[in-house]
Amino acid sequence: MNIVDIIAKKRDKLALTRQEIKFFINSLVHHKIEDYHASTLLMAIYLNGMNEDEIVNLTKEMMKSGDVIDLSDIPGVKVDKHSTGGVGDKTSMVLAPLVASFGVKVAKVSGRGLGHTGGTLDKLESIPGMSISLTNAKFKDLVNKHGIAIMGQTQDLDPADKSLYALRDVTATVGSLPLITSSIMSKKLASGSDTILLDVKMGSGAFMKTLDDARTLSKLLVKVGKACGKDTRAVITDMQEPLGLAVGNILEVKEAIDTLNNKGPKDFTELCINCAAIMLTQAKVTDDLNKAKEMAIANLKNGKAFYKFKEWIGAQGGDTYYLDHPDKFKEAKHVYKIKSKLAGHIKEIEALTIGEAAMHLGAGRLNVTDKIDPTAGIVLNKKVGDHVKINDVLCTVYTNKDKVNDILKTIQKAFKITLVKIKQPKVIIDYIK
Ligand code: URA
Repeated sequence: MNIVDIIAKKRDKLALTRQEIKFFINSLVHHKIEDYHASTLLMAIYLNGMNEDEIVNLTKEMMKSGDVIDLSDIPGVKVDKHSTGGVGDKTSMVLAPLVASFGVKVAKVSGRGLGHTGGTLDKLESIPGMSISLTNAKFKDLVNKHGIAIMGQTQDLDPADKSLYALRDVTATVGSLPLITSSIMSKKLASGSDTILLDVKMGSGAFMKTLDDARTLSKLLVKVGKACGKDTRAVITDMQEPLGLAVGNILEVKEAIDTLNNKGPKDFTELCINCAAIMLTQAKVTDDLNKAKEMAIANLKNGKAFYKFKEWIGAQGGDTYYLDHPDKFKEAKHVYKIKSKLAGHIKEIEALTIGEAAMHLGAGRLNVTDKIDPTAGIVLNKKVGDHVKINDVLCTVYTNKDKVNDILKTIQKAFKITLVKIKQPKVIIDYIK
């Protein structure tokens, strides 16, 4: 077998066999082929696609390219959830302890933020002392003892995805359904949980800009997960406006704390309750989704979810004093209020613009090596559907940077105001299982 024949096959729109895909992934991770071979094959896949069998085989071979965490000796169903990324998406920080508060084991490998999207690891690391660099053994130990752990991806988990993603990034081949699906699912499968819930974000602040694209990706992710033997489901959720109110690391941790104390923003709380309910049914705590929702609401109200949050953060080295006293978190040097110049109803708050602005304020990174400022970000004072008067505060901006006038102007423009009454958007658009 040789790589040039495999490239030629995909160039000619033919399906690759499991053996050919295995040869490609093995050759890639053992540096037996050149980057130009891999890049050319990626472009052929981008242009000519793959059938479902090829995508499943690519996913399995990528998963097997490194460590596959074995959680089978931990009793009970191990559940996982993954978001395709958005602005203000602090869901894992609430969902993981909420689900774990029912005794369900939550084992999650998370990522860092890049560009306009934030990452769970950066948010968690803004809690003093919190460690997300765990060995696989420590990760398992925490899941066993506390029923919950979130860690960063180690070098040895899915090395094929690392190589492929780096090449896709510089060869205009990121946006290919087979490549996105195998990238997401191979990492999830290597993380070892029994069930997977995918939160596919849709809208200006998301990877998938249209509902059709989000549906196509969701269905493919669910199919591949099931073909690999896992209970896989997906929700398509709104990312036209930022999720909740806070965008930026410490600001989002504070909102997670509020939500775990049942004082969170409506859209974010609703998302957490619905996702928790699905995960509880995946873990077979109940098969009644409505009952599962009521159970999730109860644990936000009775303090059990917050208690589990503190246990988890403490177990990973975080200083739980801050969780009880969120006002003690560091604050940015400058705080600006953006006020409305018009009266009317908020029609849109462009998630992409807000995410990029937060990044430029210091909350995110443009390049993987950039350092982030945990105190920087934006807190919305209004959401889509709200009525505003002239001079009402639209949002509050936090930064340690001195010259941010242009960023403030951009943020102002992200708010679109109309005279027509606007309905609040639904946060959950579809559920695919
Ligand atoms: N997220 C991933 O992990 N991989 C992709 O290709 C796209 C989004």
